[in-house]
Amino acid sequence: MNSQQAGVENATPIFKAGSTPKRYTVTSALPYANGPVHIGHLAGVYVPADIYVRYLRSRGRDVIFIGGSDEHGVPITIKALKQNTTPQAIVDHYHTLIKDSFEKFGISFDIYSRTSSKMHEATASAFFKELYDKGCFIEKTSMQYYDTEQHQFLADRYITGTCPHCHSEGAYGDQCEKCGSALSPDELIDPKSTISGSTPVKKETKHWYLPLDRYEDFLKKWILEGHRDDWRPNVYGQCKSWIDLGLQPRAVTRDLDWGVPLPLPDTKGKVLYVWFDAPIGYISATKELLPEDWEKYWKDDQTKLVHFIGKDNIVFHCIIFPCMLKAEGSYLLPDNVPANEFLNLEGDKISTSRNWAIWLHEYLEDFPGKQDVLRYVLTANAPETKDNDFTWKDFQARNNNELLAVFGNFVNRTVVLTHKYFEGKVPSVSETAYTEADKECLREMCAFPDRIADSLEHYRFREGLNELMNLARLGNKYLTDNEPWKVFKTDPERVKVVLNISLQIAAHLAVLCEPFLPFTAEKLCRILNTEKSGWDAAEKEELLQGGHLLNPAEFLFEKIEDEVIQKQLDKLAAIKEANKKNAKPNYEPQKEAVSFEDFGKMDLRVAEITAAEKVAKTKKLLKLTLNTGIDTRTVVSGIAEYYKPEEVVGRKVCLLANLAPRDFKGIESHGMILMSENPDGTLCFVEPAKDAVVGMQIR
Ligand code: MF3
Ligand code: ZN
Repeated sequence: MNSQQAGVENATPIFKAGSTPKRYTVTSALPYANGPVHIGHLAGVYVPADIYVRYLRSRGRDVIFIGGSDEHGVPITIKALKQNTTPQAIVDHYHTLIKDSFEKFGISFDIYSRTSSKMHEATASAFFKELYDKGCFIEKTSMQYYDTEQHQFLADRYITGTCPHCHSEGAYGDQCEKCGSALSPDELIDPKSTISGSTPVKKETKHWYLPLDRYEDFLKKWILEGHRDDWRPNVYGQCKSWIDLGLQPRAVTRDLDWGVPLPLPDTKGKVLYVWFDAPIGYISATKELLPEDWEKYWKDDQTKLVHFIGKDNIVFHCIIFPCMLKAEGSYLLPDNVPANEFLNLEGDKISTSRNWAIWLHEYLEDFPGKQDVLRYVLTANAPETKDNDFTWKDFQARNNNELLAVFGNFVNRTVVLTHKYFEGKVPSVSETAYTEADKECLREMCAFPDRIADSLEHYRFREGLNELMNLARLGNKYLTDNEPWKVFKTDPERVKVVLNISLQIAAHLAVLCEPFLPFTAEKLCRILNTEKSGWDAAEKEELLQGGHLLNPAEFLFEKIEDEVIQKQLDKLAAIKEANKKNAKPNYEPQKEAVSFEDFGKMDLRVAEITAAEKVAKTKKLLKLTLNTGIDTRTVVSGIAEYYKPEEVVGRKVCLLANLAPRDFKGIESHGMILMSENPDGTLCFVEPAKDAVVGMQIR
């Protein structure tokens, strides 16, 4: 049976590009409830989704924002096993923690649900049953990996091995996180059980498969032809490469005891695959939110469905879930899937297992009241088109030089001067008093709502935020150009105009910053003594009328000092140190034998480093000057990430002196210094004993 025969044709949204749909369903990936959430989650999914939704609400659009915890699947049971507790205890604990973190960061879900709810079990079972009854699945008995020590089948994250596509190690049974490919355990090279570490055997079992290969024509038409221009290149490109590779039937059931039980007779011990049930969680949550009305958010062709996700979720949201929806027949397909790339932390991949992350609940403790600072930094530096790096120095600089120096300073100067000269009242002015420059400034101000809206409608959140800051920059420049603090003595009437216009800019900032910086927007409204107003209001010039009384000035942002940043850096350094100690060595097998003659060809000798400097524009390279006993020479070495130049001068080292010269960034290197690799991948010197003599042979 092909997809056309499978049932009703799906509702294809009929709003045209550029026109406004009747309503929006915005979902954000359901995080696994097996750990707390960190800045990578926030930057990749929840902050952009929240900006989008707050913007839509500000425009008065009908929108629901769906979130929840993903509480099934192997990540949960593995965690329970490690902590010697039950999966339910794990998800209860983390669901509460995650929900709380999101709330405190102002992520404004209309519902934050969970996939262990009764509603979800009913919805997911019914969905499976519907597809089953329609004959959308293939039933297949096959040999699957089984751990004889643990007496269980190894699915998904219970099994790891080398990825057949990118050859990186540690790929899971369902996905390689390095290249994003969807996998099945059979494809892994050198598979191992995650639970026992043993090499699994094969055992017979029966499962149900969704034949993705039958949906190729549909996917080609829908994505490759239909979304070439409006989906992000990273999302479109990933979809295209999978479709081009050819799709395989994919098992949607598992032999596990944690998950949604299969709604079929004689299938005890079998559950739905977590990636089958989890996205249905968006639908279950909508049902919980709107028991009467949910269907129009999922089935009406005037609804725009948008999934916010991280790049490791692309295949599931762009290929597998849409095929499920297509097979069912009555649901909408997503209009866009704005997936972000990854955020790194201080140059290294964020990792839950290595504790290399900034956890939201810890940030909230260390930086109380500074949620908007993190929202700002994560948006300004969002990994929209490529992986990006979060550094504490950048965090500090963006707070001090942008939020504080530009936005905060402008608002503060304006409000303080209004209190000083006009008792806190917005000065009344007549338009005849405007200069050409005043009019130009107002015209520029009025262009911002549309410009920012255009960025946000197209999921370009960094660009939108940059425009917002340009409005604050406009205000700052206007104040500086007009110097009301100097003019007041001679021309107080002129100062009325300048402050009136500055206050209008501040009021526009209050409206337009709300999606990005909701806490700041609230504070700014309090200072300006206004109610929160909608986006469209900001198209007017005058938001504050003459005579309107302001509240006392408050600081919107405060300076973040070096000590505070140093404390965070120290915390990370301690984690790195602990990881180094705990890292398990990965012993490489012995290499092929070499003859004594071959060994003898190598000129190894003791040398001393007499000078060192960083190679400009590289992260890894040091240029070293060596005394080898027979000459003084230059060697370029890739150790700059582990040693500072001043730490290596004076060291004795082992040098492979007769390695053929090589060019690094225009510097010719004559030899190689021997280093040994640590279990965590860092490098350290192989040092000759203290009494070794420079220039002597090593053999
Ligand atoms: N839990 C998954 C992850 O963290 C995301 C699930 S999204 C959903 O990668 F669509 F399946 F809900
Ligand atoms: Zn891979």
